[in-house]
Amino acid sequence: MKVKNICCIGAGYVGGPTMAIIAQKSPEITVTVVDINEKRIAAWNDPDVEQIPIYEPGLSEVVAEARGRNLFFSTDVDAAIDAADMIFISVNTPTKTYGMGKGMAADLKYIELCARQIARVAKNDKIIVEKSTLPVRTAEALKRILDNTGNGVNFQILSNPEFLAEGTAVTDLHKPDRVLIGGDLDSEKGREAIQALVDVYAHWVTPDNILTTNVWSSELSKLTANAFLAQRVSSINAMSELCEVTEADVQEVAKAIGMDSRIGPKFLKASVGFGGSCFQKDILNLVYIAKSFGLNEVADYWEQVILMNDHQKRRFAAKIVKTLFNTVSGKKIALLGWAFKKDTNDTRESAAIYVADYLLNEQAEIVVYDPKVTQEQILADLDYLGTRSEEENRKLITVVNTAEAACAEAHAVAVMTEWDEFKTLDWEAIYTHMLKPAFLFDGRRLLDKEALTDLGFEFYAIGS
Ligand code: UDX
Ligand code: UDX
Repeated sequence: MKVKNICCIGAGYVGGPTMAIIAQKSPEITVTVVDINEKRIAAWNDPDVEQIPIYEPGLSEVVAEARGRNLFFSTDVDAAIDAADMIFISVNTPTKTYGMGKGMAADLKYIELCARQIARVAKNDKIIVEKSTLPVRTAEALKRILDNTGNGVNFQILSNPEFLAEGTAVTDLHKPDRVLIGGDLDSEKGREAIQALVDVYAHWVTPDNILTTNVWSSELSKLTANAFLAQRVSSINAMSELCEVTEADVQEVAKAIGMDSRIGPKFLKASVGFGGSCFQKDILNLVYIAKSFGLNEVADYWEQVILMNDHQKRRFAAKIVKTLFNTVSGKKIALLGWAFKKDTNDTRESAAIYVADYLLNEQAEIVVYDPKVTQEQILADLDYLGTRSEEENRKLITVVNTAEAACAEAHAVAVMTEWDEFKTLDWEAIYTHMLKPAFLFDGRRLLDKEALTDLGFEFYAIGS
């Protein structure tokens, strides 16, 4: 079967970019991305393509090429489901904040709502593709809902996890290390569905890089990949603390071990802690699944990755307080960067949120500058923690438009995100306008220690 019409439910960080690339590379397939969030869809349709709701290098060019040709954004979910022969589910699956599995399990209510909506609307056979990261065996639940509430049509469920990283989404999608497709390999219809999705990717991905497995392996591979990546960051961050109390330097250690081809050089950058929508959520989910099967040692093993990450964020904030003579009360602290990594405006689980919250509890005054994150988002992130009232957050936090403005008259500056522009700031001028001693905390190992110490800064970097 040849796919002619694709619908994707969820126009977020995953659904938006993924569908834009599929549309760009497959001009004969009509791709409609739908979302219940009207504001988001309006932004995807903004005549000024620079105003699309997600900032990713190269994405606006792709959208400019395909939008209106075979790429459409809409809030009419029913119409898009009806027209499609393949439906991607890309809605968010946050960690549950209530009830059973609270704080650990993935909340699948949006996934279930999608399944029920598809079942209600569908009048012909459809292939359903899980794009959202899901607990193992979610496909089974999806299938039962679809088969029991549908109009007697046939649904094939595929798992096709997304491995793109934010900030490099376009290159990751153009040149994926692999595309993973899980499906029912044991049935004729299942194999046909898998082949239909393979054919979509084959527009630009070589066959050797398209992997097909059973559904459960595919679902679990996504959780495993994120767990392994996060584990590397927690491992190097654990060593960063040890480096700080010895004479070792974590960057030198990372380079030395990374040259071992069995270890490899990537994902060994010590930092103030990993963030993003996936790592923590997926590991918590893995821990929850392991526990639910009674595999307590497996659960504890992976949970440690999260505990280490929490420790790293707290440790960085505590270092600031200790260095500033054990008090930051009433002191102005500039945070450079709020996004969870550079080249994205995404702030979910960003270390900056937790460091700021810690410092606010110590009664610091925080000034934030991030080149891509809005004031509205920064305040919403802090309000969401619920540590103090919204009024108090607004009293203690200021968001400014330049790094220089953030640092002026500050007692300390902390680099939270590795934005390239922070490397080339006029640090001499910044030093002049800060209170002395001028403390600089590099949570990303971004800056040149020697040069900044020469300028007069009291300089601290993670892991040295
Ligand atoms: C994705 C994946 O889908 C998630 O499983 C993964 O682990 C993290 O990344 P992401 O695209 O980053 O999620 O989420 P988000 O940017 O929140 O986008 C989800 C979109 O789905 C939102 O725009 C939301 O409005 C929409 N949505 C949600 C619907 O259209 N319908 C719903 O019922 C629920
Ligand atoms: C991750 C996975 O990489 C991707 O495959 C999956 O689809 C979604 O989750 P993402 O969260 O977008 O992608 O970004 P990633 O580059 O993995 O970074 C995650 C966090 O780890 C960031 O906060 C980053 O700053 C941090 N990190 C990463 C480090 O602190 N050190 C490193 O060496 C690498």
